[in-house]
Amino acid sequence: MTDIAQAGTFQLGDRRVKRLGYGAMQLAGPGVFGPPRDRAAAIAVLRAAVAAGVDHIDTSDFYGPHVTNQIIREALHPYPDDLVIVTKVGAKRGADASWNPAFSAAELTQAVHDNLRNLGVEALDVVNLRLMFDVHGPAEGPVEAPLTVLADLQRRGLIRRIGLSNATPRQVADGRRIADIVCVQNQYNLAHRGDDAFIDALAASGTAYVPFFPLGGFSPLQSGTLSEVAAGLGATPMQVALAWLLRRSPNILLIPGTSSLGHLRENLAAAELSLPEEAMAALDRIGAA
Ligand SMILES: NC(=O)c1ccc[n+]([C@@H]2O[C@H](COP(=O)([O-])OP(=O)(O)OC[C@H]3O[C@@H](n4cnc5c(N)ncnc54)[C@H](OP(=O)(O)O)[C@@H]3O)[C@@H](O)[C@H]2O)c1
Repeated sequence: MTDIAQAGTFQLGDRRVKRLGYGAMQLAGPGVFGPPRDRAAAIAVLRAAVAAGVDHIDTSDFYGPHVTNQIIREALHPYPDDLVIVTKVGAKRGADASWNPAFSAAELTQAVHDNLRNLGVEALDVVNLRLMFDVHGPAEGPVEAPLTVLADLQRRGLIRRIGLSNATPRQVADGRRIADIVCVQNQYNLAHRGDDAFIDALAASGTAYVPFFPLGGFSPLQSGTLSEVAAGLGATPMQVALAWLLRRSPNILLIPGTSSLGHLRENLAAAELSLPEEAMAALDRIGAA
């Protein structure tokens, strides 16, 4: 069995977690809406992740909605002491499965209570405020009002730590005047490298960076170079994509998503894959192209 501790650990707020974690979004139904086709399989994936040593799971109550958190609770509650569950608020789903901003004080407070109830916990380990100024990527806009709501819920003991998602460097700097921002969760992978400088700045301040879509998201990464490097190393392209992220910066924490036990094992085995310099150089050229 893979020893995922080989990928090392990084600080996530006041907790230290292994750098290979798990993203639970794929456990809801198609389009992250409604129940999964196979609930028992979803439960098995979560239990296998924790059995393999995963101590960082990323979720949200707007996956399903509610469905993913309810599955996490069914699979893992009572939770192991070392498990850190990171959730996010700031969006709500329409009846047509659309993703809509939900930033009022009432909506954010409701979202925190929905997460608490569906996960079955008294306090949320980490809550990311998922910014929606542009749903597809970071865009400037004020964070003070929604973060003030979360900071108030933190003072009331319902939230332990606060992070930002889909955020710009300026929003993180502004946010830090209101709350300690322990992590940033933005889209980033081998082929999507807009946050390169941001990651380095966050590393310098000891802040975790958690790339979403580490494997490319709904359409997994495809690249001739990636396939060639993988074949040369006797690994799969997805393992190489994850190993590249692990090498990219020590503050990167991985949350690859999968609904498949086979893919989970494959992804966790990336912890044991080390990339030679020439492989890194070839892979770096993918993002530059
Ligand atoms: N903050 C945000 O706005 C935001 C947005 C999106 C996601 N997230 C978080 O980030 C996590 C990761 O993102 P993601 O799950 O959307 O994308 P991802 O990890 O980049 O890729 C998941 C996709 O890759 C497939 N896959 C996984 N492992 C594979 C493997 N070894 N070989 C081939 N295909 C594989 C999955 O299908 P199978 O199920 O068939 O394996 C799924 O279609 C999510 O789970 C969620 O927690 C956050």
